[in-house]
Amino acid sequence: MAPRYDRVVAIADRVLFDDGRRWACAGATGQVLEVAIGTGRNLSFYPPDVQLTGVDLSPRMLDRARTRAETLTRPVNLQLGDAQHLAFPDASFDTVVATLTVCSIPDDQAEMARVLRPGGRLALLDHVASTSSPVRAVQRLLDPALVRMQGDHLLRDPGIAVRRAGLAIEELTRSRWGIVLRLAARKPSTA
Ligand SMILES: C[S@@+](CC[C@H](N)C(=O)[O-])C[C@H]1O[C@@H](n2cnc3c(N)ncnc32)[C@H](O)[C@@H]1O
Repeated sequence: MAPRYDRVVAIADRVLFDDGRRWACAGATGQVLEVAIGTGRNLSFYPPDVQLTGVDLSPRMLDRARTRAETLTRPVNLQLGDAQHLAFPDASFDTVVATLTVCSIPDDQAEMARVLRPGGRLALLDHVASTSSPVRAVQRLLDPALVRMQGDHLLRDPGIAVRRAGLAIEELTRSRWGIVLRLAARKPSTA
């Protein structure tokens, strides 16, 4: 996907996600991990004072993220890595951000929760299974082809997995016929 990713996703950003990338990054503080950072489309939205690490499974996506980081003169530690087996100790990050990853990667929220410090915040932006049954019916029709063509799943919903990972959901909004999800959750502080 790497060579055509930015072109394709620019359309989704316009049609579906509005200022979602800005929203996902705006609350980031301290040590920040972006999971499956792709070509680095969120880089320009992070506050200037965060220490940013990004992981992705694809070296070619990371190459593009590296080029983008250089043009923005933002230092970012980019690493090859698997979201399902993050190579970081428990409680390493104050913030974890993941955009457009629920649709690609199954069950990575437990790992995100593990690497968050107590009190840390997770922000997810994605397209998920719609809350409207007619829209979901259309998604069900399109899902097999999109999964086959580009590994893009239309019918996922991370809410249950986030709760199961022990995080408390603080913000959950839906837009665009219930398809676009913004979810912010926090790891409980151990008092
Ligand atoms: C739809 S793209 C999203 C990229 C970026 N987060 C964004 O918002 O534009 C999905 C990304 O997940 C990455 N990916 C897929 N499986 C992964 C895994 N197991 N671990 C880490 N990255 C993965 C892909 O290489 C790709 O960059």
